[in-house]
Amino acid sequence: TTQTIARSYIIFVYLSLSLQVKKYLKPFLLSQEKLQEISARLKKNMIQGLGKHTHHKAPVKMLPTFVRATPDGTEKGDFLALDLGGTNFRVLYVRVMEEEQKVLKMDSQICAIPQDIMRGTGEQLFDHIAACLADFLDSQNLKGQTLPLGFTFSFPCEQIEIDKSILIHWTKGFSCSEVEGKDVVKLLRDAIHRRADYDIGSVAMVNDTVGTMMSCGYKDQSCEIGMIIGTGTNACYMEEMKNVKRVEGEDGRMCINTEWGGFGDDGSLEDIQTQFDVVVDKTSINPGIHIFEKMISGMYLGEIVRLLLVKLTEDKLLFKGKTSEALLTPGRFETRFISEIEEQDRGLKNCQNILTELGLKWDSVDVRLVRLVCDTVSIRSAHLCAAALATIVNRIRENRGLDYLKTTVGVDGTVYRKHPNFSDKLQAMVHRLAPNCSITFLVSEDGSGKGAAMVTAVAQRQALSHLLEDSDSDRKEDEEEDK
Ligand code: GLC
Repeated sequence: TTQTIARSYIIFVYLSLSLQVKKYLKPFLLSQEKLQEISARLKKNMIQGLGKHTHHKAPVKMLPTFVRATPDGTEKGDFLALDLGGTNFRVLYVRVMEEEQKVLKMDSQICAIPQDIMRGTGEQLFDHIAACLADFLDSQNLKGQTLPLGFTFSFPCEQIEIDKSILIHWTKGFSCSEVEGKDVVKLLRDAIHRRADYDIGSVAMVNDTVGTMMSCGYKDQSCEIGMIIGTGTNACYMEEMKNVKRVEGEDGRMCINTEWGGFGDDGSLEDIQTQFDVVVDKTSINPGIHIFEKMISGMYLGEIVRLLLVKLTEDKLLFKGKTSEALLTPGRFETRFISEIEEQDRGLKNCQNILTELGLKWDSVDVRLVRLVCDTVSIRSAHLCAAALATIVNRIRENRGLDYLKTTVGVDGTVYRKHPNFSDKLQAMVHRLAPNCSITFLVSEDGSGKGAAMVTAVAQRQALSHLLEDSDSDRKEDEEEDK
């Protein structure tokens, strides 16, 4: 029938065009061997980042977090949490309950951070944060209390103590002046004091990866890795203190914020960077910074796809060579489109709507080719994450001299959560790259909110037990002296 002929024709055209399109996509395909090689490179970078004399030049920063323990279930109390650096800025009121081993979010509020504040001065940013917190405390009738606060600040910070944390540099969409090189806790406290209408108690600084690990650690005590694949990408894990050369002490473990997004900032990923990755980096607000992240995370994936589509249109492989103003506009192809286009049942329909929305004239072959482009870009992202995660689990296994490691990873982030098959692709590849590890993936329940409260609670528990130990040893010394 004519229908079958038409169908066969579409398939024929698709196959012949897709052969040509695949030439453009080839640099995005990374073999298992290549991923192994990348994992080996990352391993070297991690060791460099941990070293006392090598860390200051290391692209993968391996930042000590001063989190020495995962939750043991005895934590409790009421906390405030701030969450800056993901999709939204949020303020939360959280209750940690001992008996039921539960973290309850009592209430929360989202505050928008307008673009001009994201790129304005540090003082404006922290005044804005302090004002949001004030509004929230008012609405909860909490202004009279001085609650401890967990501050999820999802940027690379040199942590001096749990409540002293120096921003190394901004990543993702932020670029406020006068914050890099400064203690973020002090900037927050100063802003609150400038207002003088409320105060906060002790502060614990938390990276979102750490919050994610801790929020899962409450449920599963073998959770010792936290991973984010959202606006940005990063992971933390529990490292042996004896390997953390920059912090005194040999015993126990400390959580290390790897800042793996910075992998490649010394040029070590040039062999896998495509021409499109190079443009994404060059046109970003922080060229040269977080090269690995720019190949993986939600802030950039849509833009990589857009650049590919522009090129394929220019070369007459899409839309009969006719582009649109929207397609030519940086940022217009959002990362969420990729998830929508890759949906199993509705994907092609979604793709049609999106292309129409972008002012493009498509036919059914275009729609399939666009989906192929999205697939390729998101699979590369999942595979690169898999290589990086495999590096961490393999390291933990070797650290502990185990033939086989069973461990749990707490995960969060819009790309991981929302993309229809990202997590499957990632897990399958980690399995191949770390065959001697069995990994449970737990999607964190609000790591940046509840997790931050958890970190604060654990810090309080530890401070308290130190105090008790100290007073115990003081008492013993007194007794000795009395004798
Ligand atoms: C960026 C930040 C890092 C954060 C990650 C995920 O890579 O530098 O601190 O954990 O984004 O939000």
